[in-house]
Amino acid sequence: MSNTALQALKDRAPGFVPSVAVVLGSGWGGLTAHIRYPIRIPYAELQGFPAAGVAGHGGELWLGHIGAKAVAVMSGRKHGYETGAVDGMKLPLQVLQSVGCRVLVQTNAAGSLRSDLPPLSLMAISDHLNLPQRSPLVGETGAERFVSMVDAYDPEMLAHAITSAAEQGAHLYTGVYAWAFGPQFETPAEIRMLAHLGADAVGMSTVPETILARHLGMRVLALSLITNMGAGLSQEHLSHAHTLSQAAAASQNASAVLAHIIGTLERE
Ligand code: HPA
Repeated sequence: MSNTALQALKDRAPGFVPSVAVVLGSGWGGLTAHIRYPIRIPYAELQGFPAAGVAGHGGELWLGHIGAKAVAVMSGRKHGYETGAVDGMKLPLQVLQSVGCRVLVQTNAAGSLRSDLPPLSLMAISDHLNLPQRSPLVGETGAERFVSMVDAYDPEMLAHAITSAAEQGAHLYTGVYAWAFGPQFETPAEIRMLAHLGADAVGMSTVPETILARHLGMRVLALSLITNMGAGLSQEHLSHAHTLSQAAAASQNASAVLAHIIGTLERE
């Protein structure tokens, strides 16, 4: 692990011990407005943190408080489709775990596979399909690499998220997230296959980070903002610009719901 990044983080925020790590995906950038007294560290100052690449994904680590929780929020993540490597988030998550984070809250934008899960819905991930069958743990040694993925998305935090969203007047769907490698969108035939396999939503991120977090012993909560129906399920033309504009429309509400969920987490 990069002691350099860990040290840089400690130097920038002496004595600050975050307990909740958050990864912001498309549409979730508004969460940063809920961070009190933020300290912002560009990834460029944190060796091994991902260089910002994709439009709509920033490149900064935000430290501060949401409600009573001390948080470390990664605005910007590395995706498998950028280079083919799926372990781009390994070092950042190791650093955040070492500095104190026991929970990882992930967010993303996703396509829906269900007619009763419309665009602009929020879905908490209850389980996932690792369709590419790629793992960021390849190369790890020791018995811990054979990490159990049962309850990879912590049932207690999931229940908390549903209750907490309801307190905000928001309905949180739950469902299975299928990881599609991307960067191309799916074909209509692939979308039909994914629905058949039991997936409720599809996206290009999150799964590698969940595996990494479980390996690090962190509990995971993950929320998807549904930006579109899967290919072939509606007339809309899929594009990254469409994902971003839909995400922008729902961003404020989604972020407020998430801030409340994080601020009221119990065990951390
Ligand atoms: N497919 C894959 N990833 C996505 C989608 C989609 O339809 N929408 C947002 N991210």
